[in-house]
Amino acid sequence: MIGNEKIVFSGVQPSGNLTIGNYLGAIRNFTGFAEEGYKTFYCVVDLHAITVRQVPADLRRRTYETLALYLACGLDEKKNTLFVQSQVPAHAELGWILDCYTMFGELSRMTQFKDKSAKHAENINAGLFTYPSLMAADILLYQTDVVPVGVDQKQHLELARDIANRFNQVYSDTFTVPEPYIPKTTMKIMSLADPAAKMSKSDENQNAVVYILDSKDDVIRKFRRAVTDSGSEVRASEDKPGVTNLISIYRAFTGKTVEEVEREFAGKGYGEFKTAVGEACADGLAPVREEFARLIADKAHLEEIMKAGAETASYYARKTMSKVRRKIGFVG
Ligand code: TRP
Repeated sequence: MIGNEKIVFSGVQPSGNLTIGNYLGAIRNFTGFAEEGYKTFYCVVDLHAITVRQVPADLRRRTYETLALYLACGLDEKKNTLFVQSQVPAHAELGWILDCYTMFGELSRMTQFKDKSAKHAENINAGLFTYPSLMAADILLYQTDVVPVGVDQKQHLELARDIANRFNQVYSDTFTVPEPYIPKTTMKIMSLADPAAKMSKSDENQNAVVYILDSKDDVIRKFRRAVTDSGSEVRASEDKPGVTNLISIYRAFTGKTVEEVEREFAGKGYGEFKTAVGEACADGLAPVREEFARLIADKAHLEEIMKAGAETASYYARKTMSKVRRKIGFVG
């Protein structure tokens, strides 16, 4: 809380091109909060991105792109604080402090750490391990009430709550304990090539992943090639993971219910259904893509937004930091 305003915080990494999974599972859900009267902070988390090796020019370009995507997805910089994590040094500062209130055992249990260390066996660095305490710092720095995230981040959020409670218990109330916001309609979007795996921006098979900025033709082609299941009926069920994933995506772009989708495609084959999903997705993304193209062409404008966002964020971060420093026993 700040005064009587509830706070929302979320972050997206500037690593890899963003997929429709990032869009439907996270960014699209960010836009309603400011209208509902929340004070909102949306961050491009570049400090998190360097836990895996990045090409500097790519990291810089993607930082601009992620900010442009926030804007293109409908976040107005006048109503939301949009900023880049490394431009507000308090994130790193509180991250270190919270490392000292986070247990080795807790971090060892994080499934994302286990997955990423298996995937980057040559670079299992300390930052990859302590990633969740930096994420807790992001959230706790703004006295956040609500964190909209995809289901895959739920475990990190629970740890952030544990860290906040632990700190509050040792030093008296300091941090708001945040709640996750995982809307029911936010289904996990799966790979188009392997419906057992999450759609991932780092998938080597480019046909398995639909990017927010893919052209209309690419989107439609990828859906036409999507893996379906045996049989020919368009029906959501556990034994039809491919079709079920496509139904989820179709629903997300059209707002239809499962029953409506099943009725719409009753007696029609997979081919027709896949084309319809591709078209709904391409049409849904078109305004985002156009707005993105306009925004990314003006770097100076994006830099102004980053700068203003970092100033606003720093103001609130400083308040929390002075409280934290005093409670811990730092001088000055
Ligand atoms: N870990 C998140 C992800 O990979 C990104 C993130 C970093 C984040 N800090 C955050 C999300 C704080 C919500 C709140 O998706």
